[in-house]
Amino acid sequence: MEYQKTIAITGGAGFIGSHVIRLLVKKYPAYRIVNVDALTYAGNLENLKDIDQLPNYIFEHADICDERHIDELFGKYGFNTVIHLAAESHVDRSIMDPLSFVKTNVLGTAALLNSCRKHWRDNYSDKLFYHISTDEVYGSLGETGFFTEETSYDPRSPYSASKAASDHLVMAYYHTYNLPVVISNCSNNYGSHHFPEKLIPLMINNIKHNKPLPVYGKGENVRDWLWVEDHARAIDTILHKGKIGETYNIGGNNEWRNIDLVKLLCAIMDDSLGRPKGQSERLITFVKDRSGHDLRYAIDASKLKKELGWEPSLQFEEGLKRTVDWYLQNEEWIDRVTSGQYQQYYAEQYVKR
Ligand code: NAD
Ligand code: TYD
Repeated sequence: MEYQKTIAITGGAGFIGSHVIRLLVKKYPAYRIVNVDALTYAGNLENLKDIDQLPNYIFEHADICDERHIDELFGKYGFNTVIHLAAESHVDRSIMDPLSFVKTNVLGTAALLNSCRKHWRDNYSDKLFYHISTDEVYGSLGETGFFTEETSYDPRSPYSASKAASDHLVMAYYHTYNLPVVISNCSNNYGSHHFPEKLIPLMINNIKHNKPLPVYGKGENVRDWLWVEDHARAIDTILHKGKIGETYNIGGNNEWRNIDLVKLLCAIMDDSLGRPKGQSERLITFVKDRSGHDLRYAIDASKLKKELGWEPSLQFEEGLKRTVDWYLQNEEWIDRVTSGQYQQYYAEQYVKR
């Protein structure tokens, strides 16, 4: 079959990548989607088991830092689009081990850009390198204000610094080599298949097991939460309608203080688990704050709305209920990803310090 597009999606076995793949393979049977993933602790092919038999989906086990292997895949498939999500993505891990973030997020992105340049340089028409990034590159807000596409970069964790560096490399390839690129910077995502090192799935898992709920500092830090399927829809929109060389901010317009969010989750789970009201809240435990903890993130996504017509679709409480239901119905998934290596991470992050 002659495909209209052949898209490499890096990091497709992770949280957001798996939702992007699910959306694109189903919506566009004439696109061939190749999931390029190294299957680190965060990558899990089980995330895609409902679609992995579809004829337009292929998995390739590859590390983006291995330029030779990526070149081979370009030769094999002739990608005309790359949607780049592969990354080390957790701030607390970046504080423990910054260099692995520099390796994957900076050197890996550079290697991928280099492969695109080598394979596309004779013909950039119909080609696109779409880089998925984060609002954390903009740093930390005070009580008021929003990040726009014009906000200066001011990353403050090894994670956000490595993502900022990757964004700069993408724009450097655009300006220097005319590589057709687009970038989006999104706020915190939540939903199914989210690895339980991040706030929402970690709290759901701990509530379920009656374990302490470790809230950093006083729980006053604020994040802007977006339903992961709305992020995937935004990526679909930008893939098709985004302007080359532009950046688009994506956000939920949905700010929550961590402590209020954890209390809401406790209430939803008391209800789902048939526990008396207020029982799970008693598990909340304030623990030592994260070093360099950014106070507040909030995205102004009006450019994306005005220019490309995207808006978030799901109300937060409904999204959280669906997320809780998914975790309660997929106990095997969570038991498997929290066995082994996760226990060691959990001990280092929460028990030993
Ligand atoms: P994740 O940690 O769940 O998944 C990352 C995926 O990348 C995994 O499948 C992993 O195996 C793969 N990977 C890691 N290193 C690789 C390498 N060297 N080669 C190939 N594959 C590799 O991450 P996520 O939360 O799905 O985030 C995806 C992207 O979106 C990241 O670039 C992240 O910075 C960005 N982002 C995430 C959020 C969020 O709230 N999670 C918000 C904004 C932006
Ligand atoms: P996280 O999900 O790690 O996302 P990010 O740091 O990229 O925004 O954390 C979200 C917020 O929750 C952040 O302010 C840190 C806080 N947090 C806790 O209070 N306890 C936890 O155990 C975790 C993982 C996060």
